[in-house]
Amino acid sequence: MSPQKCKLIELPKILDHRGNLTFMESSRHIPFEIKRVYYLYDVPGGALRGGHAHLNLSQFIIAASGSFTVHTDNVHQKEDFYLNRSYYGLYIPTMTWREIDNFSSGSVCLVLASEFYDADDYIRDYDEFKQIASKSKK
Ligand code: TYD
Repeated sequence: MSPQKCKLIELPKILDHRGNLTFMESSRHIPFEIKRVYYLYDVPGGALRGGHAHLNLSQFIIAASGSFTVHTDNVHQKEDFYLNRSYYGLYIPTMTWREIDNFSSGSVCLVLASEFYDADDYIRDYDEFKQIASKSKK
């Protein structure tokens, strides 16, 4: 089975002189049912977040404010995504190593997740990730 790819997805945008509005609906604009939402904020300059992969969880990451860079790796392909608009986001499928850095001051990283929080779903060791990924994705 070939690995699923990360994908930038543009969201609906309602332009308005009072301010713009973007929305997203579970399983419509986002390619999974949303079970959890969390966000990173007050991130100090130079910080690195992520540094793990998930066995069963998919995510959708939006720069709700400001900007940052998401580095992804599914063993076959490494890609970097600079997110700096609140009307699109990055879909990250299961078994993708991700690191997030280059956070601008005051940025907010909004994350939609396909599963409830489960510490056992994390792979936090890169060598272990490579071993599992190369076995399951030939
Ligand atoms: P962690 O996943 O390590 O953050 P990052 O995505 O930057 O690697 O999460 C940091 C801490 O927050 C860790 O102790 C687990 C906890 N946490 C929850 O309790 N619930 C959640 O939904 C998330 C994402 C993290």
